[in-house]
Amino acid sequence: MSEEITRIEDIRGNPSGIRRVGVLTSGGDAPGMNAAVRAVVRACITRGIECVGIRRGWNGLINSDFVVMHGQEVSHILSRGGTVLYTARSEEFMTEEGRRHAVRTCRLLGLDAVIAIGGDGTFRGGLELSRLGVPVVGIPATIDNDVGCSNYTIGFDTACNTAITCVDRLRDTMSSHERCSLVEVMGRRAGFLALYVGISVGATAVLLPERDLDFERDLIEPIRQARLVGNTHFMVVVAEGVCMDRKMGEEIKTTFDLGAKVQEAIGIKPTVTVLGHLQRGGKPSARDREVASRMGYCAVRAIAEGRPNVIIGTSAGKIVEHPIEDALQMNKSVQMERYEVLEALQNRVPRG
Ligand code: F6P
Repeated sequence: MSEEITRIEDIRGNPSGIRRVGVLTSGGDAPGMNAAVRAVVRACITRGIECVGIRRGWNGLINSDFVVMHGQEVSHILSRGGTVLYTARSEEFMTEEGRRHAVRTCRLLGLDAVIAIGGDGTFRGGLELSRLGVPVVGIPATIDNDVGCSNYTIGFDTACNTAITCVDRLRDTMSSHERCSLVEVMGRRAGFLALYVGISVGATAVLLPERDLDFERDLIEPIRQARLVGNTHFMVVVAEGVCMDRKMGEEIKTTFDLGAKVQEAIGIKPTVTVLGHLQRGGKPSARDREVASRMGYCAVRAIAEGRPNVIIGTSAGKIVEHPIEDALQMNKSVQMERYEVLEALQNRVPRG
């Protein structure tokens, strides 16, 4: 009988004989997380594995907050933003006590592995859990695109498109009134969103946390130059990370403070728009649905084929796997060639 079962599992592609897998979303939500959950559930079904949805991130493992996921639970979620499993940033999971509770829940539920969908913070939690004997696989999903081991993170494309739509609308009114506009985009301490959005909207200036910033040179000078060539409105994209850690000096704590300084310098009162959580919502783009579906499938494949404790990533458009510990050591930074493109298209002299 057991030989027969093994044979069937082999045919389905489950040589490790995995029975039950948990899936959770953690950290800030990102469009495409649902597509990844759906892919995990469907790939599990294909391989004869039962899938349990853990709700509210790592908190769900601590509090036994779960739902068994059948095929129909994930019907029609592919196109929905947010996450049907809810998400949280779990303080309790940061404690040893919390993680011990989580391991107990894994044992009680009979989970052979957990698939965690989120960013670096989620994966640091996953590493700790794997050290306590629960196999973990990570799928990168964050609008910030700041996961070192993967070129791309689920949600980034949709967030860029959402921000671009907002800035295009802003431009209509800014150009009609000949105004200057400062738009703050998310990204935490990373400038990927700001740079992609800045290039895509033809911004007058883009301020990134990755660059050492000079108020005159990086903000005022581009506006003056744009004025000289006849522009009558100015669109400045500011990454939220720019004002974190006082990168613009002690007195500039927010993009609103930056706006006040611009007014002092050029005599125009800029409008300041913080896009905020708007950027995290909405239907996932084609790219996010497609990448999420492939990553979800590959996460289940890694577990079924006996390669747990990895993070799934992309490299040159292909799916790759990195051991969690190595993955968390990997860094990725904004490519400055892109910044050069931005400057060149504004007909400014690159800084070099
Ligand atoms: O990491 C995703 C993100 O949206 C960041 O861009 C932002 O800094 C942060 O989350 C906001 O977090 P919260 O929703 O907890 O305020």
